[in-house]
Amino acid sequence: MEKPRVVLGVSGGIAAYKACELLRRLTESGHDVRVVPTEASLNFVGAATWSALSGNPVSTEVWESVHEVPHVRIGQAADLVVVAPATADMLARAAHGLADDLLTNTLLTARCPVVFAPAMHTEMWEHPATQENVATLRRRGAVVIEPAVGRLTGVDTGKGRLPDPGEIFEVCRRVLARGPGARDLAGRHVVISAGGTREPLDPVRYLGNRSSGKQGYALARTAVARRARVTLIEANTGLPDPAGADVVRAGTAVQLREAVLKASADADVVVMAAAVADFRPAAYASGKIKKKDGQEPAPITLVRNPDILAEVAADRARPGQLVVGFAAETDDVLANGREKLRRKGCDLLVVNEVGERRTFGSEENEAVVLGSDGGETAVPYGPKEALADTVWDLVTARFG
Ligand code: CTP
Repeated sequence: MEKPRVVLGVSGGIAAYKACELLRRLTESGHDVRVVPTEASLNFVGAATWSALSGNPVSTEVWESVHEVPHVRIGQAADLVVVAPATADMLARAAHGLADDLLTNTLLTARCPVVFAPAMHTEMWEHPATQENVATLRRRGAVVIEPAVGRLTGVDTGKGRLPDPGEIFEVCRRVLARGPGARDLAGRHVVISAGGTREPLDPVRYLGNRSSGKQGYALARTAVARRARVTLIEANTGLPDPAGADVVRAGTAVQLREAVLKASADADVVVMAAAVADFRPAAYASGKIKKKDGQEPAPITLVRNPDILAEVAADRARPGQLVVGFAAETDDVLANGREKLRRKGCDLLVVNEVGERRTFGSEENEAVVLGSDGGETAVPYGPKEALADTVWDLVTARFG
């Protein structure tokens, strides 16, 4: 079988050296990679490095090997173009359709999926000019990965770091796996909650649950690959941010509710994959609760937390918004699921059977997705991403 053809565009930022690792991962996993650096990027990593690592010729200008018409051929033949790092200048040139070097020509002739992994200083990323260019590229179906937060060049920190090459590779792999047709969430904003809330008792203790957040993260990654704009609201997962999603952190059920309501104002779909504590301690002790010799511990009084899923479903922020819930059940799984779907008022409910060793923390999952229209889709035991893709298939079918 022919190897998938990937064009790795490299623009002129200090993070160019990290693209060497991305290139290595792509070639080692059986991709034929053609590196197209910009002239400016050669100040950071030279053409000899790209040529040696890719095993392919490297050029930056359209004036080399003109008889092969590289400015058209490279883009036409590609199965995927990934630009990493993508500087603010690169995003601007791509958004405006400039064609002043080989990489921008390639971007205009490519009809395959295109992934941009931006890296720049926070001020440049946040500038309305860059943000509008990113919005333009996304509207056209490109995947623009959110930059990571952390140490930038020099001593400053903020949003703008190139995401981990492993994360960029994962996005590429997923986008490639779904092929060029998989743009079915392009232009959609999806909001996903993941993880488990923690309800504090005192400064050192909390009531929590065993949700790992992995299913929610799989939903976020697959939605990015299908070109959605993704807001991931995470509660206590400790997982690395998935590339391409905007991550919002929430610790407690009350914080999660606030974050979900805010993000869902313009969402097309809200997926509540988080395990939200139904109850929280009625009182929070500002000092550590101490044991006292000879005394029984004081009972903990609990109060109800808001039901976020029911609230979002009952009060849709925009017409046609879809709401997806999850149900963790130990007994009478389907009957309880049907009843919960009705009670919560959502469009789809993913019903999991849980137990000591099932689902929590595992990489795999098995579920039945119930629809408010009576639909029932069984998803066999398999990777959490397969279940995630089934959820998006059912969601996009409902968008019509
Ligand atoms: N959920 C929520 N807010 C809560 C509790 C749960 O939004 N306070 C959401 C979860 O994110 C999940 C769904 O509701 O999508 C189902 O959660 P589950 O705990 O299974 O349902 P409960 O409402 O707790 O019902 P029961 O107590 O009958 O199990």
